[in-house]
Amino acid sequence: MRADDTPLIRLEDYRPSDWLIDTVDLDISLHPQKTRVRALLGLRPNPAGRPGAPLILDGDELSLSGLRLDGLLIDESAYSATAQGLTLHAPPHRRFTLTIDTQVDPSANTKLMGLYRSSRVYCTQCEADGFRRISYFLDRPDVMSVYTVRLEAAKIEAPVLLSNGNLVAAGEMAGGERHFAVWHDPHPKPAYLFALVGGALDHVRQDYVTADGRKVELAVHVEPGKAGRAGWAMDCLVRCMRWDERVFGRNYDLDVFNVVAVSDFNMGAMENKGLNIFNDKYVLADPQTATDGDYASIEAIIAHEYFHNWTGNRITCRDWFQLCLKEGLTVFRDQEFSADERSRPVKRIADVRTLRSTQFSEDAGPLAHPVRPRAYKEINNFYTPTVYEKGAEVIRMLKLLVGDDAFRAGMDLYFERCDGTAATIEEFLACFAETSGKDLTQFARWYEQAGTPTIVASGRYDAAARTYTLDLAQTTAPTPGQPDKQPVVLPVALGLVGKAGDLPLVTGSAAYAGDGVIVLDQPSLSVAFSDVDEPPIPSLLRGFSAPARLELDLADADLLRLFSADSDSFNRWQALQSVASRALVSAGRSPGGHNALIATAGELAEALAGFLRVQAPADPAFAAQVLRLPVPADIAREIGRDVDPDAIHAAHRSLAAEIGLRLRPHLMELRERLGTSAAYRPDAASAGRRALRNEALGLIALADPEAGAHLAEAQFAAADNLTDRLAALAAMTLVAGDAREALIARFGKTYAAEPLVLDKWLMAQALIAEPGTLDRVKGLMQHPAFSLGNPNRVRALIGGFAANLTQFNRPDGEGYAFVADMVVALDRTNPQVASRLLGSFKSWRMLEPARKALAEQKLAMVAQTPGLSRDVADIAERALA
Ligand code: BES
Ligand code: ZN
Repeated sequence: MRADDTPLIRLEDYRPSDWLIDTVDLDISLHPQKTRVRALLGLRPNPAGRPGAPLILDGDELSLSGLRLDGLLIDESAYSATAQGLTLHAPPHRRFTLTIDTQVDPSANTKLMGLYRSSRVYCTQCEADGFRRISYFLDRPDVMSVYTVRLEAAKIEAPVLLSNGNLVAAGEMAGGERHFAVWHDPHPKPAYLFALVGGALDHVRQDYVTADGRKVELAVHVEPGKAGRAGWAMDCLVRCMRWDERVFGRNYDLDVFNVVAVSDFNMGAMENKGLNIFNDKYVLADPQTATDGDYASIEAIIAHEYFHNWTGNRITCRDWFQLCLKEGLTVFRDQEFSADERSRPVKRIADVRTLRSTQFSEDAGPLAHPVRPRAYKEINNFYTPTVYEKGAEVIRMLKLLVGDDAFRAGMDLYFERCDGTAATIEEFLACFAETSGKDLTQFARWYEQAGTPTIVASGRYDAAARTYTLDLAQTTAPTPGQPDKQPVVLPVALGLVGKAGDLPLVTGSAAYAGDGVIVLDQPSLSVAFSDVDEPPIPSLLRGFSAPARLELDLADADLLRLFSADSDSFNRWQALQSVASRALVSAGRSPGGHNALIATAGELAEALAGFLRVQAPADPAFAAQVLRLPVPADIAREIGRDVDPDAIHAAHRSLAAEIGLRLRPHLMELRERLGTSAAYRPDAASAGRRALRNEALGLIALADPEAGAHLAEAQFAAADNLTDRLAALAAMTLVAGDAREALIARFGKTYAAEPLVLDKWLMAQALIAEPGTLDRVKGLMQHPAFSLGNPNRVRALIGGFAANLTQFNRPDGEGYAFVADMVVALDRTNPQVASRLLGSFKSWRMLEPARKALAEQKLAMVAQTPGLSRDVADIAERALA
């Protein structure tokens, strides 16, 4: 299907369903190729719908094998059925039941939507519109039903049978070969939260008692033999359940909570009621096969999916335009959980890095869209950094603006008022308007307007009057379909930093909200602070209080002062990033300005030397963030046009190398000090020490490849954990040569039987910034562990390559050609994976003319391919528009 033939679905066209489905009784007999599904739907006319309307059920690649109304066969003229839908032309205007028989082939399902098999395990993925691949249904989130599910399967093939809710019956069938299980979920839910799992699985179990006294049996199910890697996920689950009780007053509401890990999964994980299904990459962990980063992601994602039980499941979305109602809010909740479990400033820095590299770049390109899109062709293309990460930032700003107490009261009111419903952003915001007494009309613009605002700030000190005046202005560049932008509500947390720390903030300005926050809701405003006894350095957007770009022209010396003296950790980190970023932008714009880069390296190294000696050992995780330069993609975006990826890469490398050269003795000493002989533990403090040691290793390797190689080899050999081994590999990949190839080979052999570890190995190679990488990647596609059918393998190798700034953007266009060909090939089997890969082209418009033309050609080639999926066609069309 071509995207231009696909109807645009618009928010303003929302109408309630004409029909409701109160109950769903599913009877599913699992078979590898011929799974039989019988759905008994309890229907009634929706009082809010149109009387006398036909009943139009959604389907996707379905075939109907039986249909009854109130148990009786229906005349063929009364309905029409296609693969895409089932219509009852004139259903009775009363309650009635429909019994629908379909048959599906899970083994042939390569899209991994609906019912499919992953390494012999039956599983489902129904969000956003996968249920219609199992049975004909009103597959929309505002149709909520109580489900009872009977599963039947061969015992040997699927000894474990799981679905949503609580187990109510189980037993053997006559003959003893097959068995069954019946699950009942008392909470009404939309079809996208339905799930089943059947297979041979091992598990770990734990009892849990909620704060309000409910006994819950928790279980994490994994492939046979892998239960030893499920303990961390279970530990995370227990901690996040307690946290949600303590911080949001939310208790779990069923007798069981099951988590299942599968190896073929399009996304990270899915919050199906009482039966979360995970990509095994986000469940399995032991020190030998998971890195510190993996442990942290597992913690975040286990929490995220669990938190959806209230923000997403108990209260779901009225329609898919409201996706951020559950996703942005739930990302905010998981970020807060991780901040409480680990280091709040370090978590904030990591989240802002992600926001800038993924969301800001989306906002700056042709795929920009509001947190709540107004129209879509393919909803699966809107699970984006904008909906997720910017959506979470909007919640964070809301909390800052209304205050902690009104925020918590607003959440309580939301849970009380909207529980059991399919809600909207308006209903959500109304709760906070009520508890805070604030008018949130303008704030709501964050949901409607795309683009990253820029705050231009400047300050003036008047020594005679002892005043400091801050001028703030905001602009947002046009985005597709939104040429004219309105001012948004920007909470600007700030401090004025004097010689001995923060100066008191004294002002009568109405824009000053107290507690160190100015609310910039006009195109521009000025705030005058009085009783300022010395010229201060402004520290703006503390804690990254709004998802905006800040333009504030501070001298390097002032930024370096903030780095050492700011009371806000985030801005201490940001200060050094700003120094580095300015130098990189200028070197990336006009290559050849090497001297300026060297001068900056000198300044940064000087500031870092003392920091590494004195402060870094006390907070290694923070120090690791400080040592890490802004990523090249951020520099490219700051440059904004005529981008030359090679120039940016060269500048980035030489700045890092120059810093490494100057800091080498400090880095070596620090590595010694942080080295421990204690056995690996995944906690945040030990992870922080490893992060800093490994950051130091990377800088040393760039400064002195030979010394780096020796260190890396030694670290690889001595390490008792994957984190240090992978860091050794990553450091080694920075420099071409035999030592690198030897370590790559050794790593590959060591982990030949561990696909999730090989993914990291594939990606490390795909990211090598050298012209040989494209051939290397093509060669690795022949590796026995690689498969185009497994999304993790594809994302690691092909996705890794598409994220390689210099090689994806090769001047000869071969990088674009390769990725475009892969998109077309993958689209035939898995459109979602293909369209996400095509998203790698999202920044093509800012490239210099030659690359831009080549990228456009390849995008056009994709767009013109016959028989494209809606997913890929939609991205290609918008990217080219
Ligand atoms: N509801 C989503 C899973 C999903 C995503 C279903 C896209 C259908 C389409 C789930 O809650 C989610 O957001 N998962 C994230 C991970 C999370 C920690 C941000 C994912 O899968 O990437
Ligand atoms: Zn989610």
